[in-house]
Amino acid sequence: MDYEHIIYEQNNQIVTITINRPSKLNALNAATITELHEAFKMANMDLEVRVIIVTGSGDKAFVAGADIKEFVRFNQIEGTQLSTRGHQLLFDYVENLETPVIAAVNGFALGGGLELAMAAHIRIASDNARFGLPEVSLGVIPGYGGTQRLPQLVGKGRALEMILTGGMINATKALDYGLVNHVFTPDELLNKATDLALKISANAPSAISAAIATVNAGFDVNQNGFEVEKQAFGSCFGTADFKEGTNAFLNKRKAEF
Ligand code: COA
Repeated sequence: MDYEHIIYEQNNQIVTITINRPSKLNALNAATITELHEAFKMANMDLEVRVIIVTGSGDKAFVAGADIKEFVRFNQIEGTQLSTRGHQLLFDYVENLETPVIAAVNGFALGGGLELAMAAHIRIASDNARFGLPEVSLGVIPGYGGTQRLPQLVGKGRALEMILTGGMINATKALDYGLVNHVFTPDELLNKATDLALKISANAPSAISAAIATVNAGFDVNQNGFEVEKQAFGSCFGTADFKEGTNAFLNKRKAEF
């Protein structure tokens, strides 16, 4: 598939999706969100793909937010639709993928950019990254999951300070907050993301998917995470991956999933 606003690259079991509007600091317009949806869907459906890395092009920004020009004239109904469409196509979609997603945050991650990073399963960052939800400075609130996922990741008090001030934090503080797991130099970032992806891709894909779904269930008010865990744990026992993983251990060989 041809993309205009993103780059899709596959290297064996790892797909890297690069948001590619550097002149607009990779701001998310509707077309980019549609392309991202298609790309994540394609990677998730490809059984060879074990991990997806998402990053931004250029050395300045991961994503500087939703495209402000696009929604500047929206009314209340269009605003609600913008948020709903974003959740469905990208933010909830990514969080609930079976394939793990690593956000490699290579610069500004603002508004929808931070929200995209937070929808990913793991975040790492370059030391020049900046994180913030500046929406209140525009007269709106975060609408792509930021009011929910930021408190989950950093705690309510820190999240509300970030949301209400609209200020940015640097990579060191993001690491301290637990918003990102690791910080590297810009040159190291993608290699380190690949190292992490390779570690994950050595494990059983069916167990990886079950682990994501089960962890997510604990943050879903409609599900009991512990009950979901019991069922998902049991389901693992019926998989070929379980057979292979346990046999490989008992036969002192490396499992091939
Ligand atoms: N939506 C649309 N365009 C955006 C954008 C966004 N969220 N963020 C940056 N851009 C565009 C700018 O309009 C500019 O385009 P132009 O050259 O056609 O004028 C280009 O990207 C470069 O941005 P610029 O502001 O000139 O870069 P800077 O280095 O001076 O500042 C930021 C960088 C990130 C601080 C600044 O761009 C910014 O505050 N962006 C908006 C962040 C935001 O509020 N995001 C939440 C949106 S809900």
